[in-house]
Amino acid sequence: MTQVSPFTQQDNAILDRILESRRSVRSFAQDIPPKEDIMRIIRAGLLAPYAAQAVAGQDFRRFFVFQEGNPELAHVAALGKRQAKRMAEQLRDDLAANPSLEDQAQGFLKRLERLAEMGIPGIGTAPYYVVVAERRGIPPAEQQSLAHCLENMWLKATALGLGFQLVSVTAQMGQDREFCSVLGIPQGEFGTNGCAIGFPVKRPPPVERPDAREVTKWID
Ligand SMILES: Cc1cc2nc3c(=O)[nH]c(=O)nc-3n(C[C@H](O)[C@H](O)[C@H](O)COP(=O)(O)O)c2cc1C
Repeated sequence: MTQVSPFTQQDNAILDRILESRRSVRSFAQDIPPKEDIMRIIRAGLLAPYAAQAVAGQDFRRFFVFQEGNPELAHVAALGKRQAKRMAEQLRDDLAANPSLEDQAQGFLKRLERLAEMGIPGIGTAPYYVVVAERRGIPPAEQQSLAHCLENMWLKATALGLGFQLVSVTAQMGQDREFCSVLGIPQGEFGTNGCAIGFPVKRPPPVERPDAREVTKWID
């Protein structure tokens, strides 16, 4: 029996358009998007799946919105730089212990050194820096859940005409006691990740990806 979708072809065409329009935006206009739009984006993030069995019914996800101009945003921007510096130091130690990784890791090390000096793109370079905290369960699956959450938020931001940039160093910042204290969450109980949101200076063209047929093997 053929199953009937509750969604129309038009619904699907709109969803496809949003999926194809989702791009990383790394340059934001100064205008501040309305708070209602940020709340709609957060609602989309809440709708994303979470590891229900791992967190056993506890409150699983929290959102923190830092707005440009608030001193706490400057504070977390400084914590981001400190985190990049720590990661560069750690990588240098790892490379000293295992020089065979040098060729592979040199590019990333240079990037970390630049971030430690210049700051983290997305923290203080957009009207909003949004941190999402996901409860760490057993087994730990918080970063996978956060990825689902952020993708939902990204698609909603796209649908609202807003630009979105992942700020993935937020994951490492989540281990920092001072960062947890700014968020008001107990250190070690949550994983974190984050994004920057604002109006894009320029809208990037739709995504370019290989044809699905080129990357799919059917075992049927
Ligand atoms: C796990 C992960 C982490 C990422 N971290 C960052 C980041 O910290 N900053 C950033 O600007 N983009 C980040 N990106 C975005 C990718 O660079 C981007 O999605 C990719 O270049 C494809 O471009 P598109 O998003 O415009 O399609 C990340 C993407 C993934 C999947």
